[in-house]
Amino acid sequence: MDHSTILFFSYKSTLPGIYSYVHMNINEQSNILITCSRGVSPFLEKEAAALGFTPVSTHETGVVVRGTIKDTYRLNLELRTALNVLFLLKEFRCTSPEVLYKEAGTVKWEDIIPPAEYISVVSQVNNPTVNNTMFANQKFKDAVVDRMTNKTGKRPDSGPERSNIVINFYWNDQKAWIYLNTSGTKLADRGYRKIPLLAPMRETLASAVVQATGYNGTCHFVNPMTGSGTLAIEAALIALGKAPGLLRSNFGLKHIKGFDETYWQELRKATLQKASKKPEFKIIATDIRPEHVDAAQKNAKTCGVDHLIEFGVSDFSKTAVPPGKGIVLLNPEYGERMGDKINLISVYKGIGDFFKKECSGYTGFVFTGNMDLAKKVGLRASQRLPFFTAEIECRLLRYDIY
Ligand SMILES: C[S@@+](CC[C@H](N)C(=O)[O-])C[C@H]1O[C@@H](n2cnc3c(N)ncnc32)[C@H](O)[C@@H]1O
Repeated sequence: MDHSTILFFSYKSTLPGIYSYVHMNINEQSNILITCSRGVSPFLEKEAAALGFTPVSTHETGVVVRGTIKDTYRLNLELRTALNVLFLLKEFRCTSPEVLYKEAGTVKWEDIIPPAEYISVVSQVNNPTVNNTMFANQKFKDAVVDRMTNKTGKRPDSGPERSNIVINFYWNDQKAWIYLNTSGTKLADRGYRKIPLLAPMRETLASAVVQATGYNGTCHFVNPMTGSGTLAIEAALIALGKAPGLLRSNFGLKHIKGFDETYWQELRKATLQKASKKPEFKIIATDIRPEHVDAAQKNAKTCGVDHLIEFGVSDFSKTAVPPGKGIVLLNPEYGERMGDKINLISVYKGIGDFFKKECSGYTGFVFTGNMDLAKKVGLRASQRLPFFTAEIECRLLRYDIY
């Protein structure tokens, strides 16, 4: 089950009763559902609040705020932990595919979608009258395309690519929601990770994990076992105050009819000006494998933050930790096979020794999906924050080192 499926089941209606009906005009305020990975919503909620949006509700995989389509510009540009920014168009009672077709056809799509735009529909369905999500997806798409053809005389192309107009349709029991996906592709796809290596951490999760350590650029940040460098790169973006949306050029919102290019450019400029902070403290990223350090360095260069990170090839235990205060964060392998796990016991034991011997004055963090291995660190964790990577439940463990 991916994040959005979980969201689908945990998402609570804003409808006061099942027979209520909400139909939004695109120029008015509506609910904006910002989705995220499980475990991340407390950080997303804080980020949204810092941008001036009061969360209406917070769920396991999303936060709801109120705003206009133009508010989604800022959310897409600035949020570090969000996956998709979804603008609610309609919420209705849905009892059959026929009702779905009829209701989806009442949205004024011709006011939202330019005539020649390509559309993509993402559906999630849990209703006894439908045993095939693809069928509901097709029915929904037909409703949109038929209305567009009737009103404009032109039939929009559609398909799976989330490169242009993206519409999310959720149908759970007898309730249904239609959202305009203003992000298009997931905001986690920042575009800097050209060399992902094996099983890298999703960028938005990495940012949430860095934020969970309390890092804000005002102390050193040390990241041994850096892999493709995601944690160090997200830390650099935070230290710089650089919004991740500045790294992307395409968003779903740019394809919506009436997209305000001037406002978008003004926002980008203002956001860019905020990124002028000069970080005073070190960010260090090391890995035992030279090819991983090389990949991390290239990814950081693509992101424009390579000059802020000191890279090095070394065993984690030999990473030079600068004197003073700081955060040291490791994401060791969890071990899929038994043999791996046995080898990893000494690695986890070594992390405890490294913290004790080399990291005094620092706060140590280990992000892992294996709690048995985590025990081998041999230190008492003062905090265990739950996160999820795909299906694996993980913890961010905090160690106060004296
Ligand atoms: C789970 S990956 C880290 C993934 C990373 N967070 C990312 O987003 O790409 C673990 C990394 O630890 C490195 N590693 C394993 N043993 C190590 C050791 N003894 N010292 C330093 N690095 C090590 C591996 O080369 C791998 O790149």
